[in-house]
Amino acid sequence: MIVSANLKTNLTRATTDKYLEELNKFLNDTSSSQEVIVFPAMTSLNKQNGSVIVGTQNAYATRNGAFTGEIGLEQLEEFGIKTILIGHSERRHILGESQEELVKKFNFYKELGFKIVYCVGEPLEVRKAGDEDMMKYISAQYKGIDTTYKNLIIAYEPVWAIGTGLTPTLEDIQKIHTELKEKSSAPLLYGGSVKVANAKDVLAVKNVDGILVGSAALKVEDFCSMCEDAQKLEQ
Ligand code: 13P
Repeated sequence: MIVSANLKTNLTRATTDKYLEELNKFLNDTSSSQEVIVFPAMTSLNKQNGSVIVGTQNAYATRNGAFTGEIGLEQLEEFGIKTILIGHSERRHILGESQEELVKKFNFYKELGFKIVYCVGEPLEVRKAGDEDMMKYISAQYKGIDTTYKNLIIAYEPVWAIGTGLTPTLEDIQKIHTELKEKSSAPLLYGGSVKVANAKDVLAVKNVDGILVGSAALKVEDFCSMCEDAQKLEQ
């Protein structure tokens, strides 16, 4: 399974290094076979030794250049980063990234062979409009994306479930994941208020291949516990 943490705008370089050291130690000590990915804040990107895959929460579709406030391939290469999160709802809705821009970014990093965790998910008003509108909305987020790309991972994250403590029912997660699996056979993660108390149940849902955790991953011992849940489910 894939157990991933999006640390967003949290932790510093020093506390992230400590976090990754403890996580790597835990995975090593428990002989974990899970694919564990962590997306730290950009200033916390660093070279890694352990089994944890470190990815960037964002990067511009460029090697370098005049793109104030952005980083590009050159800055990622310094730390050997080959994994990127694209299309997170906070980038779509707060930073205003359009589908067109995301596709450009996707294609740029795809050409470079990056592992891409591509996020999709609907806001509450779309959810309330019913299943048909919801699937139409999510389908539009697949537009221009190569769903057969071999290093693709998709994360379904309903916007209304992110950071709110609300989650869809397990039945709803299964239903949506089953529909999304028809669009792409790439591993499909669920994200949105996953925490220690529900991780095991979410991971056990059919067509859920892993989780993408935000706030509940900020304490390394909690994230380790979710990695352990995934490991137990596979045994
Ligand atoms: P929360 O786990 O804090 O709801 O955030 C989920 C998320 O956005 C992961 O990318």
